[in-house]
Amino acid sequence: MDIKKIFKKGENKTKSDKHYLSGKEVREIAKANSKEMRRLEKEKNRKRPESEYVTSMRDDGNILEIEDLHSYFFTDQGVVKAVNGVSFDIPLNSTVGVVGESGCGKSVTSMSVMRLLQGPTGQIVNGAIRFKANDFKRDKNGEPIPVYEKDENGDIIYDKVLDKDGNVKTDKDGKPLLKPRQKKDSAGLGVYEKEEKVFDIAKTPIHEMYRIRGRQMAMVFQEPMTSLNPVFTIGNQLDEVTLLHIPGADKASAKARSLQMLEMVGIAMPDRVYASYPHELSGGMRQRVMIAMALAGEPRLIIADEPTTALDVTIQAQILELFNDLKTRINGSILLITHDLGVIAEMADYVVVMYAGRIIEKGTAMEIFHNPLHPYTQGLQKSKPTMKSSENELFNIPGNVPNPINMPDNCYFKERCSKCVKKCSGDYPEMIQVSPTHFVACHLYGKEN
Ligand SMILES: Nc1ncnc2c1ncn2[C@@H]1O[C@H](COP(=O)(O)OP(=O)(O)OP(=O)(O)O)[C@@H](O)[C@H]1O
Ligand code: SF4
Ligand SMILES: [Mg+2]
Repeated sequence: MDIKKIFKKGENKTKSDKHYLSGKEVREIAKANSKEMRRLEKEKNRKRPESEYVTSMRDDGNILEIEDLHSYFFTDQGVVKAVNGVSFDIPLNSTVGVVGESGCGKSVTSMSVMRLLQGPTGQIVNGAIRFKANDFKRDKNGEPIPVYEKDENGDIIYDKVLDKDGNVKTDKDGKPLLKPRQKKDSAGLGVYEKEEKVFDIAKTPIHEMYRIRGRQMAMVFQEPMTSLNPVFTIGNQLDEVTLLHIPGADKASAKARSLQMLEMVGIAMPDRVYASYPHELSGGMRQRVMIAMALAGEPRLIIADEPTTALDVTIQAQILELFNDLKTRINGSILLITHDLGVIAEMADYVVVMYAGRIIEKGTAMEIFHNPLHPYTQGLQKSKPTMKSSENELFNIPGNVPNPINMPDNCYFKERCSKCVKKCSGDYPEMIQVSPTHFVACHLYGKEN
């Protein structure tokens, strides 16, 4: 049952009573939620043809396009619209920063992109998440197609097949058995043909997600110790990614690749770290290992959710530098989630500002930092400490985010805004385009202004 209807029923109660739900009302909400969750779970697990989830990008220059994403949590107190109509793009080879105060839906957006929302309570209810994957091309039996070595005439090179004692195997006529020689990369892993394919992640079946998640897109979390398994060595955990995602990988080639990844993320003694357990490493090293693990599957998109919040400032700077360097090395993009505007200024090409589950402003980093339009973005910037500031006290945006279960119909920022106009009591403001890349949702920038 809609929480607003329940509150409406209790309108004759005192103001404070209106925020109280009786046992009967909680049961009504639970019943309505359970019906909706069952419907969504059934839809999620439905066997569907590829044509329903393989699609095309709106703009070929993007690696990810999120369109009108709605991700909800069905709780006994009502429906939490954690992400409520979010749309933004991530262009190839760029870093997009998502910023906003605690609880505004940053992590739920990233979890939705990875399809890691915990069901049945957490569900993507609506919207599209188009992701351009560069996956192994497969033959009609679903097997990846190897790339073979060719000689100078363009003919495939064949090797003689040996038995376990090293003797050449022959056919029934006594001729040696031959097999085409597969190309190998620098770690000794076989090379396979690849193809670009666009998936609508919101509709992609879970068996396909296993191929995409961890390989095509990978996530780096805030606290590496909670993401690493304390009872396995770093090497074990790194090898597992290669063994799981790269066809034909064996223990030796997986180890070679893990060592390469550790070196790539700037670990000085990769052999020693490979053999260590997570608790034997410092926080900065553990975060580097997490990044190495994310890289092991050769992802095109890295989602980093507060990747430096748990680290001290000098290590923070090193990790951010590493991310900047990796973007060009992997020829991919980064979705960087943080509440730290300083990190965004340092790293992002584009910035998305979220407030209470919605985007209230987005644009290039230049536009958001030099010409912030939304009063909330302006407030966020003012609340950032600077060396030049002559004020004794740091600015803070007054008030709190509205109750996520019972959002108003008008602008969600109204109760905290010092620039309110008459129109602000009306409908939620539309997203207005002020430049080819700069958008804002605020009545101060209506079409007539
Ligand atoms: N499992 C859950 N059940 C119910 N509500 C949830 C759940 N997870 C998140 N939420 C709600 O979704 C909203 C968005 O949460 P989210 O974790 O995305 O915030 P955030 O922007 O990442 O904040 P932070 O900066 O603190 O990490 C919040 O109101 C939160 O209470
Ligand atoms: S729409 Fe009105 S209340 Fe909302 S941010 Fe703009 S000026 Fe403030
Ligand atoms: Mg978060």
